[in-house]
Amino acid sequence: MNSPLRHSPAPDVLSRFAAIVGDKYAITDANDLAPHLIEGRGLYHGRTAMMLRPGSTAEVAAILKLANETRTAIVPQGGNTGLVGGQIPFDGELILSLQRLDKIREVDAQSNTMTCEAGVVLQKAQEAAAAVDRLFPLSLGSEGSCTIGGNLSSNAGGTGALAYGIARELMVGVEVVLADGRVMNLLRKLKKDNTGYDLRHLFVGAEGTLGIITAAVLKLFPRPRAIETAWLGVPSPEAAVKLLNLAQSQLAGTVTGFELMVRGIVEFALKHGHNVRDPLSSPHPWYVLMEVSSQQAEGLRDNVEEFLGNAIEQELVSDATLAANLDQANSFWHMRHTLTEVQKPEGGSIKHDVSVPVAAIPAFLAEASDAVVKLIPGSRPVPFGHLGDGNIHYNVSQPIGADKDAFLARWKDVNAVVDKIVLQHHGSISAEHGIGKLKRDSLPKVKDPVALSLMRDIKGLLDPNGILNPGKVL
Ligand code: FAD
Ligand code: LAC
Ligand code: ZN
Repeated sequence: MNSPLRHSPAPDVLSRFAAIVGDKYAITDANDLAPHLIEGRGLYHGRTAMMLRPGSTAEVAAILKLANETRTAIVPQGGNTGLVGGQIPFDGELILSLQRLDKIREVDAQSNTMTCEAGVVLQKAQEAAAAVDRLFPLSLGSEGSCTIGGNLSSNAGGTGALAYGIARELMVGVEVVLADGRVMNLLRKLKKDNTGYDLRHLFVGAEGTLGIITAAVLKLFPRPRAIETAWLGVPSPEAAVKLLNLAQSQLAGTVTGFELMVRGIVEFALKHGHNVRDPLSSPHPWYVLMEVSSQQAEGLRDNVEEFLGNAIEQELVSDATLAANLDQANSFWHMRHTLTEVQKPEGGSIKHDVSVPVAAIPAFLAEASDAVVKLIPGSRPVPFGHLGDGNIHYNVSQPIGADKDAFLARWKDVNAVVDKIVLQHHGSISAEHGIGKLKRDSLPKVKDPVALSLMRDIKGLLDPNGILNPGKVL
């Protein structure tokens, strides 16, 4: 029988881990550890005796080999921006930080690929692509601090997924350290490689439970020559869905962003956001932030203006403003990206990251709001999200003046009500943030039992001692 998993290793074992990275990179000071033990929303607090900061794949491999031999539990961490608690050591596990693996090993503009180590911050990867006149299209509000390893491990979506795909679709090759310390090198730049089972994607979205991603080959795209960004007041989600389909079929340009926001969350942004102003002169019940990109430098603005004129005539759009310059476009996106932050001053917020088929979004939104407000009178649903992907962040703020803790104590009740409606619409209770700790108990209720059993088999095969991110996902 395997010896039990150690969550809090003995001092002699800790010294052996520290010897792999050197004392400077074996962090034990409480102040230095503190920012790695809480996550952004303050929902989770962890504890650990040590955080290891390896500087190479070889050091990661040595850490995992030792962890496997000593049955020491490990929690991988990138930028610590994850929203489901996956990167937090809840039970004294060691943190394995990938942040020092921050080299961009190669940018190959002609092959349209870029090879990044796991700790490369997403924004740096975007900048490296732009420097060779290419686009790396993954775009998240957390891009200034989240990492490529975290993006792949959580299979992040974000605002560019509509046109360019989610993180999984942006990865061509990967290097992974397995639980026993073996390094699997699949760092190819190939679109076509049918040499047996494709193992790369097992590690994408695995949230650090199957292996440690140390590097990846990412897909690059031509950089658009023209981008138009519009802030639109729309009468209803129904109108927004029709508008999306019309834009995708009629615009001579690719719809590269289509974000939906209810007026309530825009009001939070206007009230609490820094440098936020309403782009339109009067309020509207819903808003769409639409971005259209083209490879042709000329003509896009005229197309978009004409399209919006038609959309207003058809009453799909009530009022529109097209960014006059890059600064204004950035200010529209700033409003969108601040939406997570501006919920905090409004007190407790119960979150959902769900997806339904795009056509079902209007019905989902109406049914969820009815049910939530019936459950907790006065609670304030403030849905927003990536409409083009059918992905809504169905967040509910507490009633004004209510007790925050008492409201948050209803988290699971509210989830149950919303998740039920999601499932009635054949949707998913985790669209892009993952399962982590937050939704671990819900997974068996929604996953096909055969799929769940296969997931457990794969976990057992790749991590027989259960050292990798125990208590997460499964
Ligand atoms: P972490 O939070 O450190 O880790 C995330 C998970 O991956 C954990 O389970 C961790 O154990 C594991 N992990 C990390 N690195 C590795 C590795 N190298 N190998 C194996 N496992 C690893 N997410 C979206 O999908 N779309 C959004 O639009 C979006 N917007 C956001 C906006 C804000 C303001 C914030 C705070 C978060 C947002 N997120 C979004 C969530 C989060 O930013 C993403 O999940 C991001 O991909 C996490 O990257 P990270 O480096 O911070 O990973
Ligand atoms: C966003 C995060 C919450 O889309 O995923 O802002
Ligand atoms: Zn999102």
